[in-house]
Formats: sequence, structure tokens, C-alpha cells
Amino acid sequence: IPVGTFDLVIFGGTGDLSQRKLLPALYHRYADGQIPEDSRIVGVSRTDMTDEAFRAFAFEACEAHTKDSIEKDCWAKFEKLLSFATMDATDPDADWSGLKERLGGDDRPAIFYLAVTPKIYVPICEAIGAAGLAGGDARVVLEKPIGTDLNSAKAINSGVGAVFAEDHIYRIDHYLGKETVQNLLVLRFGNTLFEPLWNRTAIDHIQITVSESVGVGDRAGYYDSAGAVRDMLQNHLLQLLCLIAMEPPNSIEADEIRTEKIKVLNALRPIESKYVGADTVRAQYEAGTVDGEQVKGYLEELEGDESDTETFVAIKAWVDNWRWARVPFYLRTGKRMRTRHSEIVVQFREAPHAMFGEDQAQSNRLIIRLQPDEGVQLYVQIKEPGPGGLRVQSLPLNLSYAESFQLRYPDAYERLLMDVVRGNLALFMRREEVEEAWEWVDGLLEGWAAANTPVHTYAAGLEDGPVEARMLLRQDGRDWWSNGK
Ligand code: BG6
Repeated sequence: IPVGTFDLVIFGGTGDLSQRKLLPALYHRYADGQIPEDSRIVGVSRTDMTDEAFRAFAFEACEAHTKDSIEKDCWAKFEKLLSFATMDATDPDADWSGLKERLGGDDRPAIFYLAVTPKIYVPICEAIGAAGLAGGDARVVLEKPIGTDLNSAKAINSGVGAVFAEDHIYRIDHYLGKETVQNLLVLRFGNTLFEPLWNRTAIDHIQITVSESVGVGDRAGYYDSAGAVRDMLQNHLLQLLCLIAMEPPNSIEADEIRTEKIKVLNALRPIESKYVGADTVRAQYEAGTVDGEQVKGYLEELEGDESDTETFVAIKAWVDNWRWARVPFYLRTGKRMRTRHSEIVVQFREAPHAMFGEDQAQSNRLIIRLQPDEGVQLYVQIKEPGPGGLRVQSLPLNLSYAESFQLRYPDAYERLLMDVVRGNLALFMRREEVEEAWEWVDGLLEGWAAANTPVHTYAAGLEDGPVEARMLLRQDGRDWWSNGK
């Protein structure tokens, strides 16, 4: 379904996010006939670039970052939407006329996408306001991370909020745009099967894993000041936890969903310093082998600098409410793990009476596979065929997205960008969500600092990261499930 005509301004138009995600996503939406011809997409940055050069730049970006090849005729039409304005948007004396003359007019919403460092979110928004562009239906899109702690997040939210109303601010967490993440809502609330069991009575514990095989590469500068907690846990993992743990919203209206997510964040038990040793693991990768290739350790990627930044974190978290009392949520994320895989495992309790003997010790397990090989598996106990004895096996009922839907998988940004145009805030974070998440994360980071929590090491390419992460579950008599095993 086509969206309405819009103007989109990408600050950081020649940056990494614009190249890898935004321009390819816009091209795909255009190629699918969703973007009206009279829309405008304007890149902005300090780089001196003509409109033509930006179009060539965008073409290369789309070729490099889309799986399908670019269709020439389609591109010829799409590139007419693109233009570029050279400008330092944080400079109070900047001349905004180049940008203004490239916009399509007042008859459509202007969307300002800040694909720049969060440090300049507020000055850019103020400048947009001063240039007279923040009125009417103008919207602003903020990338994560919003700040580096609660105070800086509040300062950004207040500064941006002084220019744009809350319902015109789109705080992106691209995990919410992933098909499988959106499917969490449908799986939980579109079926009657799961919800009656979705609580402490039937569920033993929940695991959320976001495992990456990539290292920090050329983002070491940013990453070293962030680490896995700020880069992944504060946003992506906590958002997944919210969707798994939240109460059924009254509807899929943005504020209904967001209110329920905030309640989960409110119920997250702060990690007290006395528990950081037992309940959390922080670690950093060393040199190793990923996919048969020798890769550098984190410190080598930093080029010799000392650093205790964590590239892996595992945590036992608790949601202190009626539904989840005494059900641990084990969260882990790391770079340079053996494989790239993200999944949520809902481990159900054992059957109360083992009438089939020891073999039946396994219990039901629901695995929601977020990426790659998206799908859902429900492990059930089955009788092994054969005339001798009665043996029980645990096997999955298997739903594979690739087999069920032979479609090109839209990237999360395609969905999210079109939602901004449609004015649908459901998949974007409200101010309190970001701040609640930071408050919890600040507690964790302060606990680590107070307890001088060591940074363990793990060899790049090891399946489960550091051995200490395995111990985190072993001490509770449990194990991580990896890749369904
Ligand atoms: C980003 C992080 O938000 O998410 C990156 O900054 C990380 O460090 C990326 O690699 C992972 O996203 P995806 O979609 O590849 O799982």
C-alpha cells in the first residue's frame, strides 16, 4: 500500500547507516511502488557533494548492500527523488537555503532522520527549529544509543522535546522492525495456546541470546566507549525482554503497547552490587578463529590500547511482578561468537510426574528463532517408534519462515521508515522506555564499578563466549540452548 508523499532529510547522509541501511531500504520501498514519485530524499552532511555525486554514491551503496541487483530503469526514476545539501547543521551561521530549496513543500510531512552521533541530536534539532522547519507535521527520527546513561538520555530527550512534540519523535530500535520480533506479539496474543501457560506456573526460565560473529571492526572508536551493555543490552535485549514479558495490551495502538513495555522495565529488579558477581558476566574477546579464519582480539583491533570494555555480557535478570515471580530471565549477547544467531528460548517446567522414567526428563521448549533461519520450534516429547520398550524423545514441531513464506525478507529499516511516514509510533520507543532502561543499566554499570567486576576473556569463535557464562546457568542447574541444541 503506497504511503503519502513525504520529504526525508538524512543528516549524516554520507555516513555508514545511510549507506548500509537507509538508502537501500528506501530504494526497496520505491521499487515495490510504496513511495510516491513526488517525495524528496535529501542527504545532508559537511561533505562537499553535488546532487549528481550523491546519486552515484547512493547507487554504489545500494549495489553493495542489497542482495538483489539494482534494476536500471527503476533506479533512473528513483534517483530523481535524491539530492544533497552540504551543510554543518550544528553551525548557528549555517545557510539552510540549499536544503530548503530541495524540499518538496508544505503539503507533506518533513522527516528529519538523525543518522549522526547522539552528541549533536539537540543542536541539530534546535537548528531545525530555528530554520522554521520543525512546525506542522514535521517528525524527527533518533537512532540509538540515546545518550550514554540516564542523565545524558534525559538531556537529549528534553532538548529534542523542546523542539518536537513527543508524538513527533521516533526513537528507533531496529530490532523492533525485524519480522520475527513483530511476530512475538502475534505468536503470544494471536493464539490461545500459549498465553494461559505464559507465567511462573508453567515456565521454568527464559533465555534471550543475541550472538554475533562479527567483531567491532572499524567501529572500535565508538564501541570502546560503549561496550556490549550500552550497545546491545540497554536497547535490543531489553526490548525483546519487554515483548516476551509484557501483559497483553488492550490493542496494537502505539501507546497501549508502549505502556505495557514500560511496566516491564519498571518491574526489572535493580542489580544490587552484592549480586553483580554472582548474576552477571562481562568478558572481552581475544584472537581466535571464526568461520575458519584467524581473527584479531579486541585489544589488537583497538591497536594496542588498554581497555576493559566488555564485548560480551551475560545476566540473570528478574521481572518482579505476579506473572514472573521466581522465573529467571537469562540474557546474553556478544561479538565474535562462533555463529550469528539470535533466539529466545522459553523453557517450560518438567512434567510433574515422570511416568516414562528418566528418558522423560526433558521438558517442553519453545524456541523463537529471530535470525538467521527465522522460525519457531516447539519441542514436544514423542514416543520413539519400535516394538521394544517405551522410549521418549524430544523433537520439534517446526515452523520455518523460509519454507512457509517464499518472499524477500524486508530489512527492519524498510518497515520502520514507512511507519514514520505513516505516523505509526507502535514500533518506536517512548521517552520513559529509554529512560527506564538506562536507569537499570546505570545500576548494573555502577555495580560493576563498585565491585571491580573483572573482565573475563574468551577466544573469538567459541560458541558460548566465556566459560563463566556457562557457569552462570550451571550454578542454577541449567544450560544455555544454542542454535536449538
Ligand atoms: C546495532 C549495534 O544496534 O546492532 C551493532 O550497534 C550490532 O553493534 C547490530 O552489530 C546488530 O544488528 P543485527 O540487525 O545485525 O542483529
